[in-house]
Amino acid sequence: MAQRGFPPVPSVATMAALLLLAFLTLAIHGQAASPDVGTIKILGFTYAGDGCPPGSAEGAVSDDGQAITVMFSKYTASTDAGLDGLRKKCAVTVNLSYPPGFRFHLGTVTMRGYAKLDAGTSGTAQTSYYISGTTGTAKANRVIAGSFDDNYEFTDQFGVLVYSECNVVRDLNLVSEVRLKPGNPAKSAQMTVDSQDLKLTQEFAIIWESC
Ligand SMILES: *[C@@H]1O[C@H](CO)[C@@H](O)[C@H](O)[C@H]1NC(C)=O
Repeated sequence: MAQRGFPPVPSVATMAALLLLAFLTLAIHGQAASPDVGTIKILGFTYAGDGCPPGSAEGAVSDDGQAITVMFSKYTASTDAGLDGLRKKCAVTVNLSYPPGFRFHLGTVTMRGYAKLDAGTSGTAQTSYYISGTTGTAKANRVIAGSFDDNYEFTDQFGVLVYSECNVVRDLNLVSEVRLKPGNPAKSAQMTVDSQDLKLTQEFAIIWESC
């Protein structure tokens, strides 16, 4: 049967319920709003760890301020390099500048790299972040099970929301670790930079809100 005329008008009670819901959503999440394009900059970028020797990491923030990308060129965990080779880490510190009246948290991390894992082995990539001077650490974790021999790309949500402070800019600390389980009996495993662009890349989605 063909529908004619106006769509049904929501009742006053329905409207009131929708308004209340919208109000509660705002109260809980703050007002979703982003700083203007071009106003978010990285003022400082430092890093340390056996997964990121000097000269092997760089970072950038997208023009629209919605993503921070960190690229590593020597981040390799391997069963061929003794016990130390099984686990590599890097701690990146970003001095992010943004306009007053905003705060952010990181929503997801997308990781791109390459893994070659024999059956019985596994590789784990763990990423966490915290903001200096505030409590709380958010973590995301991904396990790849052997056998696997390919570039990978995956996106994981951070388990808890850790917010920057309002109007106080503090260091953003991005901590990552790649580790291998060689299995029993031990087999060969490697988790490292991707074969196309020779980088291991982490892309963090920045979620802004006004405060
Ligand atoms: C970030 O960089 C600016 C400019 O160099 C500096 O004034 C500020 O103290 C730095 N912030 C932190 C948290 O290191």
